[in-house]
Parts: sequence; structure tokens; C-alpha cells
Amino acid sequence: MIIAVDGPAAAGKGTLARGMAKSLDFAHLDSGALYRAVAYAMLRDGTDPSDREAAVAASRHLNIDLIDAPEIRGEGIGKLASAIAKIPDLRANLLDFQRNFARHPPGGVAGAVIDGRDIGTVVCPDADVKFFVTASDEARARRRVLELEGRGAPADLETVRADLARRDAQDRNRTAAPLKPAPDAHLLDTTELDIEAALARALEIVAQAHGR
Ligand code: CDP
Repeated sequence: MIIAVDGPAAAGKGTLARGMAKSLDFAHLDSGALYRAVAYAMLRDGTDPSDREAAVAASRHLNIDLIDAPEIRGEGIGKLASAIAKIPDLRANLLDFQRNFARHPPGGVAGAVIDGRDIGTVVCPDADVKFFVTASDEARARRRVLELEGRGAPADLETVRADLARRDAQDRNRTAAPLKPAPDAHLLDTTELDIEAALARALEIVAQAHGR
């Protein structure tokens, strides 16, 4: 079983996807970490961030262990990840890993939950259940500030709000795999839902869709 969870930055998709995977005993993949890992590798190696060929090469030689590295979580890396995520050849290099994870989740478990921007539309258009998770700009900015504070990187609310808006516009307006709900996605607005309520609602939808 494949569950796709898409949505804009800091809408709560990662937390929701992780929670679903835990409840259902499925594997979880944060696909954004792949783009972040490529961005991080470029900065670490002193690669010119605007060099498209170099970005594509970095995605081809990605050390997959980097997706778990705390260093990829900064807002600067998020910005560069979004900039390079526009490059079609770079996206193509990351497709096999994601599809393979979906079809053969590690640990031999019965399903995969993958969160990102294009999972229900491009990576796994045949996913069994699709979610498009949103929240108000204000709620998303507040959540990201809390998250950054939790990582010891305090941030200013207005700056974060502006950064998220810029990144969302970039992700929505790109030609390659833009951020948008799949026609058959369940829309989940988490503005007024805490983590437990959002998870309960999502699990209800999965149960209805698949009798689990
Ligand atoms: O965690 P946050 O919501 O800030 O972003 P992320 O999920 O880590 O993704 C970082 C960037 O990678 C996004 O802004 C997208 O541009 C890109 N991305 C993508 O293009 N496709 C995906 N499936 C996941 C992320």
C-alpha cells in the first residue's frame, strides 16, 4: 500500500506522514530530504549553486545517508533545495529511489508513506491514498519558527513567513512537477487541527479507503 502526502512547506505533512507510518507499521520517506541532501552536498563541496550541470551531477552521485543528517534541515538549505528542484534532469535522477522505496519499502513492511510536493501527481500517481495537506500562512510560519527553535536555530516570524511564501510560489509555478493537489487527493487543512487530530482524521480516511 502506498500513501502519498503532498503540500506546501511547514503544513504538517512530515509529522502526519511519520505518524501514519508509525500507526500502520509502514516505512516513511521524506522526499524533500533528497532535494535538501543534494543542496547540502553542493554547498559542502563549494559548488556554484547556480550551476545547473553541477546540480544534476550532485543528484546523480548523492550519498543517500545524507537524508538523515541534521545539517540538511536549515532554512538556507531549504531555499537552495527549492531552487534546484526546478531542474527536470535533477528530479529525474531522484525518481528511481522514490519509486523503489514505494514499491519495496525497507524492512519488508506492508506499505510506504511518502511526503513531498509531487508524490501523488508524478512519483506515485497510482498511490492507494493521497493527501494534500495545507494550513494558513500564519500557522505554517509559526510552526516552522517553533521547529527551528527546537533545533537551536531561533528565527524571526516575519522573515520565515516571507521565506515560506517565496518558496511556495517557486514550487507552485515551476514547470517540472509543480506543487498541486492530485485530482483524487483528500484535502486536509491542519490550521485548526493539532497533531493528534490531524493524524486521527488521516487514519480515518485511510481506513475508509482501504478497510484497514
Ligand atoms: O520541510 P519543508 O516543507 O520546508 O520542505 P521539504 O519538504 O524539505 O522540501 C524542500 C524543497 O524540496 C521544496 O521547497 C521543494 O522545492 C523540493 N521538493 C520537491 O520539489 N519535490 C518533493 N517531492 C519534495 C521536495
